[in-house]
Amino acid sequence: MRQSASLRRMIRETHLRVDDLIMPLFVRPGRDLKNEIPSMPGNFQMSVDWLVEEAKEIAALGIPAIILFGIPETKDNLGSEGYADNGIVQQAVRAIKGADLDLVVITDVCLCEYTDHGHCGALREHPLSGALDVDNDATLQLLARMAVSHVQAGADMVAPSDMMDGRVAAIRQALDESGHTHIPIMAYSAKYASGFYGPFRDAAESPPQFGDRTTYQMDPSNSDEALREVSLDIEEGADVVMVKPALPYLDIIWRVKQEFGYPVAAYNVSGEFAMVKAAAANGWLDEKRIALEALTSIKRAGADLILTYWAKDAARWLAGD
Ligand code: PBG
Repeated sequence: MRQSASLRRMIRETHLRVDDLIMPLFVRPGRDLKNEIPSMPGNFQMSVDWLVEEAKEIAALGIPAIILFGIPETKDNLGSEGYADNGIVQQAVRAIKGADLDLVVITDVCLCEYTDHGHCGALREHPLSGALDVDNDATLQLLARMAVSHVQAGADMVAPSDMMDGRVAAIRQALDESGHTHIPIMAYSAKYASGFYGPFRDAAESPPQFGDRTTYQMDPSNSDEALREVSLDIEEGADVVMVKPALPYLDIIWRVKQEFGYPVAAYNVSGEFAMVKAAAANGWLDEKRIALEALTSIKRAGADLILTYWAKDAARWLAGD
């Protein structure tokens, strides 16, 4: 059955398609800025003018969606630029929507890029230890405000990545109350406290300034807990559930898809991308081959959608270039 390429093509079970891909993009204030992110070759922090050009190219490649991350001008304790009407993501969404492209514009909803302490929510002193810690419940209203302001700017879908408990319900309620009942939520449901986010934190300038994210992101050792997280998010109104990272967590993608049959997204994160780029730069791996194999494996595990920094390359490769 493997004798010829045609025969292999006929019995192939998994098909990676351009329709599966979501391209992450980073936007920052300024004009005519396109700064390459050293640990993520081919990816840039862009000002809005360049971002619109990039969005046009992505739409022309047939990629259906982008997800936007903002690097604000200033950061503060509560991440207020994240939910400012004229925040950087809000500006970017308006500009892209103004270009009238056939592109689903998703926004990442999280405070870590906007807080001066780099955590994904507001802080408080822990009631027992007295140490500074994220205040889950106080964060919910900030995230809800952020989601509503992204949608008011024109976002088609919001993607909370903060891992606070109850945030999907809070965002759903705020969207409904502000008249945005039709806007779907893609929840980062099983998001692990992973070392694979390293390059992203450089790109988004968002590393935590003290401690780490283990009090709200998941322990890599756990799998049943991922199902509980996904189940809660679905009950709260999530329309797409995400597993992140992707490659080290293919078993989680599989379990989530089998258990819930919901649309599943997988985030092929910055570290997964950077490892291959670094190896390829050394001539140790064939980038195209490895990237397509990895993306196909993520799909085979059960992902319907893949957020990946290879989206543009993959679109070209799949088209035969
Ligand atoms: C924000 C967020 C992160 C990523 C996506 N959204 C970083 C983090 O949680 O530290 C990581 C994406 C990547 O590594 O490509 N919370």
